[in-house]
Amino acid sequence: MQETGSNWSHAWKERLRQSNHRTRLQKTGLTSEEFWDHFSTWQKLHTYTNYPGRIMDRILQHVDPKDTVVDIGAGGGALTVPLARVARHVVAVEPSPGQVDRLMHEVSREGLDNVTVVAKRWEDVDPAALGPVDVITAAYCFQMEDIRTALDRMICAASKHVFLVHFVDHDLAKPLARIIDDFQLGPDYHHLNNVLYEMGYHAGIEIIKRDFDIPLAFQLEVLGYSHGLTPEQQDRLAESLLAAGRIRRQNGAPVLSRWYKDALVWLETDCCQD
Ligand SMILES: C[S@@+](CC[C@H](N)C(=O)[O-])C[C@H]1O[C@@H](n2cnc3c(N)ncnc32)[C@H](O)[C@@H]1O
Repeated sequence: MQETGSNWSHAWKERLRQSNHRTRLQKTGLTSEEFWDHFSTWQKLHTYTNYPGRIMDRILQHVDPKDTVVDIGAGGGALTVPLARVARHVVAVEPSPGQVDRLMHEVSREGLDNVTVVAKRWEDVDPAALGPVDVITAAYCFQMEDIRTALDRMICAASKHVFLVHFVDHDLAKPLARIIDDFQLGPDYHHLNNVLYEMGYHAGIEIIKRDFDIPLAFQLEVLGYSHGLTPEQQDRLAESLLAAGRIRRQNGAPVLSRWYKDALVWLETDCCQD
């Protein structure tokens, strides 16, 4: 592939290092794996957010029953499980033991017997040891400083497609920035696409919006863990959302109306492997 400059790879690393998520890990002293191990509300969160929704429909259009799919950063199985309902075999690459437990719980609840786990970071996986791979998916797992190498290894490993799902924007980004000092989002889909462009690839991109309602108390509990929002900051956030008319009552309990935008970034790798 054509070599060009590496400004976007550098920008990616800087944004990652300055991100609220990294600051949170530094403040708590948790490794990324420990952070995900202890994210006990993660699975319940997915019951409200309509994720992966239409993103999954798009990906599944390109997966057939003969395929082996590698799902990188599989988490609790949001992609792995629907992929395993269709594909011959799904390899879930997931370094957090807590997330692997959640994933395997879902896999057995669904009665699936075609999922295997590689309990490592993608950077530590030898792609050759995976055997032939048709499709690679990677969603919201791009805590990879050397993003260019990580992407390159995905593209070389998949014979048909690579599907990346990454952050575009959400409704709480601005309210959180007003409450958390030095609030910094990590690199977004725009960075990801530009790194691919620097590598000589022209990716397809679709931005998909999810609208959903979530109990306010539960959303604040999640933010308390994920963003380290103190009870006082949670109160301030709730007040600002109430003032903005974003909260309504359902069966007596406050419910928050939210939106989230995901980007599906994809490459057909059969024409990349020369
Ligand atoms: C936000 S969750 C996403 C889970 C799932 N893909 C989804 O979309 O719901 C991020 C997951 O990526 C995993 N992860 C983080 N860094 C990773 C890496 N370098 N390689 C593979 N997985 C990683 C974490 O352990 C975590 O389970």
